[in-house]
Parts: sequence; structure tokens; C-alpha cells
Amino acid sequence: MPDPRSVVAEMTLSEKAALVTGADMWSTVVIERLHVPSLTLTDGPHGVRRVAEGADPQDIYECEPATAFPTAAATGSSWDPDLLEEVGGALGAESRALDVDVLLGPGVNIKRTPLCGRNFEYFSEDPVLSGRLGAAWVSGVQRCGVGASVKHFAANNQETNRMRVSAEVDERTLREIYLPAFEHIVSQARPVTVMAAYNAVNGVPASQNRWLLTDLLRDEWGFDGVVVSDWGAVVDPVASVHAGLDLAMPGTGGAAAVALVEAVGGGRLAEAVLDRAAERILAGVERLAAVRAEREPVVDLDGHHRLARRAAAESAVLLTNDGLLPLDPSGGGGLAVIGQFAVTPRYQGGGSSHVHPTRLESALTEMAAIVDGRREIRFAPGFGLDGAVSELLLVDAIEAARGADAVVMFVGLPEAAESEGFDRTTLELPSDQLRLLAEIASVNPNIAVVLCNGGAVLTEPVQRHARAVLEMWLPGQAGGGATADILFGLTEPGGRLAETIPRALTDTPAYCNFPGTPQRVLYGERLYVGYRWYDRTGRDVAHPFGHGLSYTTFEYSDLRVDVPDRGRNEATVTFTVTNTGDRAGTDVAQVYVADLEASADRPDRELKAFRKVRLAPGESCRVEISLLERDFAFWDERRSAWAVEPGTFRVSIGASSRDLRLGADIDLTVPAPVLPLTIDSSIGEWMARPNAREALVGLMAEGDGGQESMLQDHPELLDMVASMPLSRVLAFTGKSVAPAAIAALLDAANGDAADS
Ligand code: BGC
Repeated sequence: MPDPRSVVAEMTLSEKAALVTGADMWSTVVIERLHVPSLTLTDGPHGVRRVAEGADPQDIYECEPATAFPTAAATGSSWDPDLLEEVGGALGAESRALDVDVLLGPGVNIKRTPLCGRNFEYFSEDPVLSGRLGAAWVSGVQRCGVGASVKHFAANNQETNRMRVSAEVDERTLREIYLPAFEHIVSQARPVTVMAAYNAVNGVPASQNRWLLTDLLRDEWGFDGVVVSDWGAVVDPVASVHAGLDLAMPGTGGAAAVALVEAVGGGRLAEAVLDRAAERILAGVERLAAVRAEREPVVDLDGHHRLARRAAAESAVLLTNDGLLPLDPSGGGGLAVIGQFAVTPRYQGGGSSHVHPTRLESALTEMAAIVDGRREIRFAPGFGLDGAVSELLLVDAIEAARGADAVVMFVGLPEAAESEGFDRTTLELPSDQLRLLAEIASVNPNIAVVLCNGGAVLTEPVQRHARAVLEMWLPGQAGGGATADILFGLTEPGGRLAETIPRALTDTPAYCNFPGTPQRVLYGERLYVGYRWYDRTGRDVAHPFGHGLSYTTFEYSDLRVDVPDRGRNEATVTFTVTNTGDRAGTDVAQVYVADLEASADRPDRELKAFRKVRLAPGESCRVEISLLERDFAFWDERRSAWAVEPGTFRVSIGASSRDLRLGADIDLTVPAPVLPLTIDSSIGEWMARPNAREALVGLMAEGDGGQESMLQDHPELLDMVASMPLSRVLAFTGKSVAPAAIAALLDAANGDAADS
């Protein structure tokens, strides 16, 4: 295909309009005379959901078989970008084999509330973790010549009213919490597409939001790909194209194209704007073709299944363990396995990400395979999946548990409890399962609980009765095997929490501001999402962000934090991690940064980097991590820019956000750019700068004078007026100052701006 610009120059207005509005549910139009091929876009993100030939295109279940990898709730907990890249590569290969050009993922929306019905599709409550993992996934997919679609841009943090609600969120919170994952992926992994969300952001629908789609995404971050709408998000195709949307999906039978043609004809849309959207789509096609020409990925479904099993184990979080786990596969008395999920696994969530798996492992079968007859395993379902209490099942389960050496009990959320399209209303596990657990505990205290859920659940009611709790999330088609591997110690539980597990719903950050009205949801907790909230409000949590046990133990030592160049706000962090136990294992070292002298309101500490290490017993490794300027910065709303204030910063190394093992303070000395004072700057701001102070006191002493003593001699009065703008104080005191005197005052005041 010749270059996109010349192809578009050959297109008719109708062809361009058709190209940017999609052909049908999953593809774009073909323009044969210009050799423009159709693009096929398909969900994503945990497996390829290619609707089967001849099936209803909207059918979620009738799809080609594909590997169902662990959901993002799980892989988010892996803290392992290499793993995400590998999974992305496998997804890319399967996409190619199924003739898919764009795989709709990853989902990198922040888990603002644990109730969000789609949290299983998102990585974390933290933007750095979400961004690093998302970027790795995108790189893996795209190296196969398949485009990714980073979604849902932006502030799509709930399902309730998702097509009409406006996320009301201040710019600093957007910049620091909800946007950085997108920004990181765009700048580091160059995704072929970004998907504009259903919701509005501050009153403007995301798919018509010029600030989001053009000013930020393209002009600031340098995105050079295609912005595609979420399916059915576009209400006004003209406004969308105008805002920077390139492709409205799905096709609407031509109506959107007609609207665009009419808008160009009527002078409401410049044809050049349409040209650019069409050019970007063709540039995307070209980019994919270029990668494809280089390599043909091999699809190894057995290998992908093994990868899915490894990924599930790397993502599993061992929340508590008093030594009951791992179980011995070869010795000891009988084991009771209780809970229907042991044979009917919960392995994926509902909605557009639903995959038709190539195979499906049950934990019970895999446990039996590992034990291989060396221990007796007795299974009882304990509960049905419909929530109805059955005394018969209960009695049977208690019988199975009584006298067993240990009990492995599977509890979790039923499939209908979490899905795209609606949010949860509770964090509690079903009461029949909790009751069963309590009854089992009364006959056998040696219980290991396996949790099967996508969104976080309250774990304390479970911990009360269990000696170990293993959170498996929705672990994909090989989750049964991964569970068995971990239970018997064939592998490590490699995951750490990517979200805080709260003690109660009422403790959670968005509790008072969720889900809002059908029109608006106020992000009133601002920056204080996830651990930032629990830390600031001093709340206890069930398990902190970053927590997860290993079968071995680790020690951290010898922290050094250097600022190699005093002229730059950058630091090098080095420390040693040692495996102090007698088994091989993985740990995730987390680097948190706190600005100890911030003038702005800043979170107590924030994750800025992390490293997953694998160590043999007794082995140590030295970890080196670079922190860049952005890692110390906050979004300064007064200047509409990132800013680092000079002063002391604490760098902490932790095994969780609440298990900080090492810390060091550094001083950053680069002067911050100073905002010029204006007549509307506050008296406090004026008095804080020597030149300004002197000039202001001089001005106040002029004429009838006297007001200067308020500034100099009466600290209590100064406190009272400190936050008042100078203009108001002048008006208030009746002091008339000529414009020339004001100009002279500002000159004198701002003379020292560079060095104050
Ligand atoms: C979802 C997207 C998905 C699209 C296509 C929408 O309802 O929000 O995540 O990619 O459908 O299925």
C-alpha cells in the first residue's frame, strides 16, 4: 500500500467517512479499488474472543477456542512485566492465527472502588503498577504484528451508568492517578490504538473530549496511533471526529458516515480533519503489515496452556499461612477438598472479555494428579453455585472434613456476581459459604482456604477460621493446576496484592462518592485512592497493597540512595535482597517515595518502582533502580505543569506499602521554577519573598500610610490576611494605588523570582 496520505488523497468523501465509522460489529470497511484492507478488532484482554464463523456477532459465548489467560486482577498481582510481555506475545500469536488485527486490551483503569464490576479486567489501584504491566502486555501483543487498544480512556472506574455518567475529577487527580498508566503505555510501548471510554469526563463525553483525545493524548504524550471508540460510545460522530476520534465502532449501517459527509458538505467539519482520521487508520494498517512481514508467530496451544498455568501461579497471593501450606503430596493422612469451585472453576469474568477456553483444568483433578494416590482425597461440593443453602451438602462436607488431616476449602463469588455492565453492592462472600466454613472449622481446624473471585472480597471472616488463605483471583483456564501446584509446594505463590483488601466497605476511599447519580460521580477522595487513602486516614486494612507471603523469607539490607548529579532531580537506589529461608522463592521489592517537605498536599508515600526477584535459598542479589524527575513530582495546578519542590524526600523499600524495611532520606536541591507574583497573589505569597515583601511594605507605607504596620508589627493580623489576594486587601483598606505604581510594585517584587 502506498503511503497513507496519498491513499487518502485518492479517496472520495464517502469512502473516508465509511472508513472512520466501521463496517460492522468487529471490522472496518474494505476499499478494494485502493487496496485498503479491512481491520478486524476483537476482545481482549485475557484471551482472543473471535466470534465463530456464522454466529451472531454480538454473541459472547459462541467464539473460537482460545487460551483463557489469568484475568488482569490476577496478572496485576504478578508484579512481573516480563511475564505480561510473554502473555501478550502468546495473545498476539493467537490473534494472528485467528486473523485478528487489533486485540482490545489492556484495561488499565484504576480500581477506584473494590465494588467496580469490572475490576477483574483491571490491574491495580496504583498507576505505576498498572502502567508498567500494561506497557509490557502491549509490547508483547504488538511484536506479533497485532495492535493493542489501551482502554478505557479515561476515568471509566465504574459500570453503573457507564454510558451517561460524568466522572467529575480535578485535573491534578487525573494527572497523578487516572492518566499516568495511559501516558506511560503511550510513551513507552506505542500502542496502535487507544479506546475512548463510554463515560464523560468533567461533563464532556470521552469520545468527544478534545482535551483528552487531542491536547493530552497526541499533543502532550505524542500518541501517533488510532483512537477508537468504545463500542457504541459515539453519540455525535461529527463532534467525535472533531475532538480527535479516528474510528467509531461498531459500524452503524452507514448512519454515522452519512452524518460526517453532511457535516463536511454543510461546512461544519473540515474535510482535512476527516482526512487525518483516515490517514491514521491507514498508518496503523501499514505499521501492522510491516511487523507481520518480519515474522510469523508460531501458535503453540500446549505451550500457551503451560504459560497460563505459570502465570496463574505467579499471580496468586498467599494472604496468610501459619505453616499449614505447602501440603505434603506424598505423606500424611487424608485430605478433604470442599467447595464446588474445586470442580467447577471460576476462572474468568462476565461480559466482553469472556473467552471460550481451549481446555479447562479443575483444581481437584490436578490435585489428584499431583498426589497420585499417595494420599486419600475426599471431595464434597459443600454448596451449590446458586446460593441456595442445602443441608444435605452441608452435612456431607462436614463428614468429609471430620477426621481429614487437612481441609482445602474453595470459596468465592458466583459467576453472576461480577461482570461488565454492573457493579457489586457488597464485598462479602456468600453467607452460605461462610456458614459452611464455620461449621467445617468446628470439626477440623486445619483449613487452607482458596479464594476464587475477581474483585476484592472481605477476607477477615475467612481468616478467622483458616490457617492459610490463598487468593487465586480469576486465574484463567489453567488456574486449577496452578492452585494445585501452589498447595503442594511445586511452585511458589508469586503474587503480591495490587490492591488493598479493606476491613469493611465503609472504609473504602470512594464510599461516600460512589456510584453518584446517573449524571455525575464526584471523585471527592481526589488523589487518595487505594493505599494513599488508607495511609492518609490511618485506617487499618485487612491486607495492605503489595502484601503477599512466600514459602520462604527475605531480608533487605544495604540501602543506598544517591543523587548522582545535584543539577537534576534524579536518584539511584540500590539495595540487597536475600533469600533467608531454605526454599527457592520470589519476592517483590517495592520502592516508595515521600516528599517530606511538600508545600502541596501530597500522599504519605507513593509506589514509584518495583522489582520481582527470584532467589535460591541463601542467595542474595543487589537491585539497582533509577528514579527520575517525574518520580518526585506532583502536578502543580497553579502552573499546569509537573513540579518538584526542593527539599527532603524519603525513599523506602518495602515488602508492602505497610511493611517498609529500609529507608533513606535525600535532599533534592534544584530550585523550583517560581511563579511570578500578581496583584491577585495572596499577602502570604507576597510576604514569603524578600523583594516582594520589601516592595509591598514600602507601598503600604506610602501616602496616608499606616497599613505597613499590619504586615510588620502584628503577626496575628498578618495571619488573618495571609490568604487574601493583594487586590482585595487594597480595596478593603481603601488604599488607592495608581496603575503605574502597581506595575512598579510587580517589577520590584518579581525581580528575585529566579532565586527566591
Ligand atoms: C467494552 C469494551 C469492549 C467492547 C467490545 C464494550 O462494551 O466496554 O471493553 O472492548 O465492548 O466488545
